[in-house]
Amino acid sequence: MHNVETFRDLQREATEWRRYLHENPELDYQVHNTARFVTEKLASFGINHIETGIAETGIVALIQGEGGEGPTIGLRADMDALPILEASNKPWSSKIPGKMHACGHDGHTAMLLGAAKYLAGTRKFKGSVALIFQPAEEGALGGLRMVQEGIMDRFNISQVFGMHNAPGMEVGKFGIRHGPMLASLDEFDLIVKGRGGHAAKPNETIDPVVIAAQIIMGLQTIVSRKANPIESLVISVTKLKAADAFNIIPDEVEMTGTVRTHEPSLRDFAETHILSVAQGIARGFGGDAELDYRRHDPVTFNHMEETTLAIKAARNLVGSAAVDDNIKPRMGSEDFAYMLEARPGAFIFLGNGPTAGVHHPAYDFNDEALPFGIGYWVNLVETTLAT
Ligand code: NI
Repeated sequence: MHNVETFRDLQREATEWRRYLHENPELDYQVHNTARFVTEKLASFGINHIETGIAETGIVALIQGEGGEGPTIGLRADMDALPILEASNKPWSSKIPGKMHACGHDGHTAMLLGAAKYLAGTRKFKGSVALIFQPAEEGALGGLRMVQEGIMDRFNISQVFGMHNAPGMEVGKFGIRHGPMLASLDEFDLIVKGRGGHAAKPNETIDPVVIAAQIIMGLQTIVSRKANPIESLVISVTKLKAADAFNIIPDEVEMTGTVRTHEPSLRDFAETHILSVAQGIARGFGGDAELDYRRHDPVTFNHMEETTLAIKAARNLVGSAAVDDNIKPRMGSEDFAYMLEARPGAFIFLGNGPTAGVHHPAYDFNDEALPFGIGYWVNLVETTLAT
């Protein structure tokens, strides 16, 4: 088992890769140059089983250990950037205005490449490691598509692991927990139907704007009065569209919002209650309401055995005191959750230091975190696939 000093040489190299990727961000499934860069690096490490073009631009590469027969474990990194104009003022800032690596996926890719180079050079494990580089983590379901295209069965993956940097957590620290780690992500559209008319004669209309206002307040009582207060639930209305002029009462108001929870059963609960509250209020005023509720990322749920392995790997790298094994769950979401639905596994946070938060124009992945991420992957493989 290694401490971080083992990976200092790799840190220098991974820093170059990370900054190159940072300068050349690509979005969603369009990560063609990134995927080419990753593939070339993997081949240069002597990895000869590389499959490209999974979920358009995703990659899975296999490294066989020299410790004999054993299972295959999956390590996953994401490759896509965000449509944000960078304001980090770093020398390696994005060369493409309006696109930037504002979530650190450049760092995630560089760390998995660093681990790949180390593991391909040493191979001190049994079984195999499947390196999973996915496109389209940022809301376009790249992780789900890789699962749907059969990577778990095709590569015989029995357990799967993910990692994300965490601004605000010290470099060299890790955070993880058993059970729910990140929330599910659902989206809904609510159409409030009334009867429009002149804003000067509201008595001749059924004003859907006033009904919508009551519904927005009513929806908050689902969280405060209907849901169990011990279980986390967020319902946010984020977008409203009513009339286009100051003197018109519209026929309809369109509302969009999101639901987040760590308790899978609360997704159905939220859908049922949003509809009944909205319809009850709207019908009470002579209008009506229609709901379109769409489920996206599931809860990112860390499985028992794999989380224990992840904690052990991190502790062996940085010591027990630097690994918080019971962090509070967060309300953000991750499409790695789809991989955790397909196979048992664990997702861990890696300290990024006092940088701007993810998805902020001033954010930058912290290169000091690279050897910790690389070391975590290597220790995890040598722990899970110990000979
Ligand atoms: Ni991210």
